[in-house]
Amino acid sequence: MKLISKKTVPTFKKSDTVVLFMGEEEAAAGGKKLPGAFSHFEKTIDLSFFKGRQSEIIFVPFADRPNLILCGTGKEKQRDAESVRRCAAAVASQCRDRAIELVHVPLPAVGGLDADAALSAISEGLYLGNYSFDRYKTRKNDNGKALLSGAVFYGGSGNAASILKETGIVARNTLLCRDLINELSEKTDSRGIAREAASLARLTGVTCRVFGKKEIEKMKMGLILAVNKGSARPPQLVVLTYRGNPRSRKFFAVVGKGITFDSGGMNLKPSGHIEDMRIDMAGAAAALYTLKSAAELKLKKNVYAVLPLTENMLSNESYRPGDVFTAYNGTTVEIGNTDAEGRLILADALAYTETVLKPSCIVDIATLTGACLVTFGEIIAGYVTTSRDLGSLLEKAAEATGELIWQLPVHKDYEENLKSDIADLCNISSEKNAGTIMGGIFLKNFISGTPWAHIDIAGTAHFSKSRGYRPKNATGFGVRLLVEALKHWQD
Ligand code: BES
Ligand code: ZN
Ligand code: ZN
Repeated sequence: MKLISKKTVPTFKKSDTVVLFMGEEEAAAGGKKLPGAFSHFEKTIDLSFFKGRQSEIIFVPFADRPNLILCGTGKEKQRDAESVRRCAAAVASQCRDRAIELVHVPLPAVGGLDADAALSAISEGLYLGNYSFDRYKTRKNDNGKALLSGAVFYGGSGNAASILKETGIVARNTLLCRDLINELSEKTDSRGIAREAASLARLTGVTCRVFGKKEIEKMKMGLILAVNKGSARPPQLVVLTYRGNPRSRKFFAVVGKGITFDSGGMNLKPSGHIEDMRIDMAGAAAALYTLKSAAELKLKKNVYAVLPLTENMLSNESYRPGDVFTAYNGTTVEIGNTDAEGRLILADALAYTETVLKPSCIVDIATLTGACLVTFGEIIAGYVTTSRDLGSLLEKAAEATGELIWQLPVHKDYEENLKSDIADLCNISSEKNAGTIMGGIFLKNFISGTPWAHIDIAGTAHFSKSRGYRPKNATGFGVRLLVEALKHWQD
């Protein structure tokens, strides 16, 4: 979708669709405050039905003048960037239902937000709400539905063009992230994702290294190889580098879980739990599109994205419960459950990232535990960290983007639950509780001192129903959060 900014409001054609946002307070004033250019509407339509409630939509079709979409922005006291994003998403969904492909948005004064914040929230909500994964539908545009191809904003500040450019980059990459996650695991297998990553090397400052099975064997990444044993497709380890600040040697590393399909392995997942498991690479997708966004935004920061990629499959060659494998850092790990595979591939990737790439901080992002979904539902991601500073950077970014995170403890008393009789560690806890924390505690063993955070997106990466600007299925969670964190990271 194209986002365009223009200074002055023109006289619209009668085929145009104009969007007006209005709060409850303005609506209560009888809608008498329609901007000058639209005052002729006041005599024609009865606005008493429109209350201006959050995301309330009224479509007013005219035969002889532009159509109007009125969108409520709620009470000023309850309004913030997130609530405005959701209003704009309601506009996108209205446009889709009516097959409207272009909207004109004279920028309103949105009480409670400054003009630039309002523009960025409206444009972001429109863009993110304007999504559908329909590549396997033979009849596109079912029921005449169509996506928006553009939005023109009128009367923004002098920053409007650059705000729209920035919003467009991050939002587009969020949609691409959703596409990669929603795509069939047959296509986005380890080599498919590695190919996508390698294509980013066309961007200024980006280089990509892909390690294949032989190199992974040579590097002795025993845990990635263990998970891969049951798969007919080779593992891949992708290391993307974006050098936006050549004068600094400091890097921010994002490590993303890339299980392209999680069958559970020998601990096979049952029906009801296996169907969506092609989304188990959502962490890798978030890491990839975070780095791509940073490069397109030309952020003056240095970033690594490290993606361990493999399927977790079932075959004669599969790894088994009771097996022991040696991690990249030499730690031996007993397999208590082959379905706890994400922490295994991340363990090798984290140890490699810390010891070879030596970044200043590491954030891993992963659909790691069903327990996270049980704890937080689909609304908030759980996270653990060894660094207050990194935690606070991420929490501020979460607040700004609406990609919410909540901290869980990594107290040392949890550690004894990962003891194994035959190896240094077991990949599952001896107790059934605290699953998300135990995943974090396991990973912590593969980090020695670098500030680190682990974000569990098992609930937030994939929705069972659409909410606001996030659709059903892949949400693209993590891209906006991590890009925002990167912007504010002091290197
Ligand atoms: N990929 C799953 C976690 C998951 C569950 C992601 C639901 C998204 C939605 C992960 O690999 C897994 O299977 N974890 C196990 C861990 C257990 C065996 C310790 C789980 O959560 O049951
Ligand atoms: Zn699993
Ligand atoms: Zn998994």
